Amino acid sequence: MKISVIGCGYLGAVHAAAMAELGHEVVGIDVDERKIEALAAGRAPFFEPGLPEILTSAGASGRLSFSTDMADVKGATVHFIAVGTPQKAGSYSADLTYVDAAVDSLIPHLKSGDLVVGKSTVPVGTAARLADKVTSAVPGANLAWNPEFLREGFAVEDTISPDRLVYGVSPVAEVAEVSTNILNSVYAKALAEETPLVVTDYATAELVKVSANAFLATKISFINAIAEIAEVTGGNVTELADAIGFDARIGRRFLNAGIGFGGGCLPKDIRAFGARAEELGRGESLAFLKEVDSINLRRRQHVVDLVVDLLGGQAFNKRVAVLGLAFKPDSDDIRDSPALDIAVQLNGLGAIVTATDPEAIANASAKHPQLHFVPSVAEAVEQAEVVLLLTEWKEYRALLPADIEAGVGSKRIIDGRNVLDSATWRAAGWEYRAMGRP
Ligand code: UDX
Repeated sequence: MKISVIGCGYLGAVHAAAMAELGHEVVGIDVDERKIEALAAGRAPFFEPGLPEILTSAGASGRLSFSTDMADVKGATVHFIAVGTPQKAGSYSADLTYVDAAVDSLIPHLKSGDLVVGKSTVPVGTAARLADKVTSAVPGANLAWNPEFLREGFAVEDTISPDRLVYGVSPVAEVAEVSTNILNSVYAKALAEETPLVVTDYATAELVKVSANAFLATKISFINAIAEIAEVTGGNVTELADAIGFDARIGRRFLNAGIGFGGGCLPKDIRAFGARAEELGRGESLAFLKEVDSINLRRRQHVVDLVVDLLGGQAFNKRVAVLGLAFKPDSDDIRDSPALDIAVQLNGLGAIVTATDPEAIANASAKHPQLHFVPSVAEAVEQAEVVLLLTEWKEYRALLPADIEAGVGSKRIIDGRNVLDSATWRAAGWEYRAMGRP
């Protein structure tokens, strides 16, 4: 099929390359010239495992191209909208400016029979509104909503082999059928592998996405709330999570207590979902998400307090090493990163923060030049009074006392992700602190 993908950020760039990898002919469109230049040259504009490989192979096949000119969607019959829906400045609502601008600038290039497919995470009600816009401007063109559930770090795998597909389609039966058939052709490979498919209405499709993220965020804040209780009772939240996780109804995944969730999705999506519920007069239904958010933010504060405590009551002029800046491993994404937030807060208290990360330094230093960034763990821990492990990159999980103890000022470590072996560190004479476990 001939496909266009409007918006080439974390979502769109991967989607475009993956669709080409699956055999479709794809053009990716973005207003950012530098991004398009990089993608067209086969370079990923951000760190995502597997993306450079499929950009190169799909690019070499001649099936993948990129452009800043919307007119280049010509010839495509399926148009994915994959632009961002960030949190609005000064509010919890989602900013739909980019989605509307994308649809508005696509409309002059649409023809009857085309299908516009929304992928961005939007407040419920957006798809129906945009469908009206599309069909009234271009009779015979339609819209479907097809939320994306990819995880950063696994984005290529999740796009090529998703764990489920959801189509939100028109209430008009014939239109729904045509849209479903088009999307079935786009996703033929995944469907042949028996990927579960839910075909539903627009509102449900939009709600599936935000509910999934709200559930995941709630699961993380639930275990972090239990960690708070474990912290004052001497319990061990990791063993507790293992034990409750054996119950298949609960499941062990997303029960890792630590410094909480961040990233471009979970934090802003739960806030926007709550804001949308309020607009709908149902604020009380999702009031618990405010608590989920508060528990999450409290984890960051807890780490800052712990550092100050370990430093004898004040952080001013004390050297602190931060290992990890990305919101999670295998990503260079620092959006709402708890690790970076903690580093910035400690810097604000006057600590001398030296931070490192395998991939996120460029992004972090562009946003927070006041921190001191170094390329290696050895340099980061130099003379540090406290070492903080905040993003569980594979190389940090493998860290042993002998790797860093020659350089540090004091043998103190905070394991913000509960990934180190406490006995090993204590045996080597370290003061070891973890999240919700002794
Ligand atoms: C998330 C959803 O998982 C994905 O389905 C959706 O499409 C986009 O949002 P992503 O933002 O890539 O994906 O990250 P995810 O793996 O969900 O992690 C989010 C945050 O939660 C990270 O900061 C991670 O460190 C944290 N987390 C995750 C925990 O603190 N504990 C856990 O047990 C799991």
